[in-house]
Amino acid sequence: MLDRVQEARRQIEICNACRYCEGYCAVFPAITRDRAFAGGDITQLANLCHNCRGCYYACQYTEPHEFALNLPGALAEVRADSWERLVWPSGFARVFQRYGGAMVAVFLLATFFVVTWFRLDVETFYDLIPHEVLVAIFLPAFVAPLALIALALWRYWREVGGTRITWAQLRAALRDAARLKNLDGGQGQGCNFEREERYTKGRRAMHQAVLYGFLMCFASTCAGTVLHYAGWPAPYAIWSLPKLLGVPGGVLLTLGAVGLAVLKPKGDRKLGAPGVWGGEMGFVLLLGFTGASGLALYAARGTEALGYMMALHLGSVLTLFLLMPYSKMVHGFFRLAALVRDAQGKGL
Ligand code: HEM
Ligand code: SF4
Ligand code: SF4
Repeated sequence: MLDRVQEARRQIEICNACRYCEGYCAVFPAITRDRAFAGGDITQLANLCHNCRGCYYACQYTEPHEFALNLPGALAEVRADSWERLVWPSGFARVFQRYGGAMVAVFLLATFFVVTWFRLDVETFYDLIPHEVLVAIFLPAFVAPLALIALALWRYWREVGGTRITWAQLRAALRDAARLKNLDGGQGQGCNFEREERYTKGRRAMHQAVLYGFLMCFASTCAGTVLHYAGWPAPYAIWSLPKLLGVPGGVLLTLGAVGLAVLKPKGDRKLGAPGVWGGEMGFVLLLGFTGASGLALYAARGTEALGYMMALHLGSVLTLFLLMPYSKMVHGFFRLAALVRDAQGKGL
């Protein structure tokens, strides 16, 4: 782990002298604000890097040059290490970040749990699981991982020397996260993920589909919960808020995840962290499956397949929630924190 930080520091110091890539992303302006880089600074720069790979393909010091620059790869290794180190218990994070198969095992267990404990010959959602039982299982499965993530972010904040957050800093970070600013190549031309020297907007577009699709699905679930307590239980009609958010959200999430899964093998693995490739792919597929099974559940209304589709969908949602601190899902939280810290560094 120390070796990885030292290797990233070596490369960052070369970049600080060179400064050719200044316009690509927020990492280079952040580098030029410092002369010496402590461990916390390297953790911050690693989480700020969006792995667009533009700097690698622009660099005159990559192998076979003796400097052997590969900044996206060096920062990706430190980034993955930081999530494993800061999330408790770190052994769990190591397993799920590295092995997509471990995720599948949890998914199968979660689905088996739903199949064994609940009736599957059902006509509506709540015949399978009464609303109170659903809340009793899913609320802790959601809140406990969030609490672990909050703890990890607090440790991150201390490590990177973060100070009190202002509204202006938070607004700037949310704006950059919402537009995925650091994947635009600096001038809006896109990143170099899958087409190497040539720019592409594919990965950013697919990510936005996943991000907004996921947020719409989440908002749909929240709307359903509010309506339930307001005395309007499921199932909901197509023009209701849960459906208006959930159906397009599910389509976006599924298509975006399929797009990312197709693009991922096209990128050069050594420009990321090769050791966590399997876990990352597992996460992309789990997201896609969650979206697709939600849509299939809607389509299966009134058929005998309903109970089985529910088991698969609830199993995938449960897996997604439980593994939030230990899967790639955690990147959204850490990256947002890094953007807030960067806004502080810029003096906002
Ligand atoms: C603060 C908000 C977020 C930011 C700034 C962000 C940023 C990024 C960046 C820069 C990447 C590409 C580099 C990498 O693979 O690490 C990425 C990948 C990805 N993100 Fe996000 N993200 C955010 C939230 C989310 C959310 C909420 C989801 C879905 C629930 C999501 C799903 C994904 C997926 C599936 C990938 C591809 C992973 C892979 O190919 O290995 N992101 N994100
Ligand atoms: S990645 Fe290469 S070209 Fe870019 S700033 Fe660093 S050393 Fe210079
Ligand atoms: S890979 Fe992209 S985001 Fe990361 S440092 Fe290089 S140019 Fe910046």
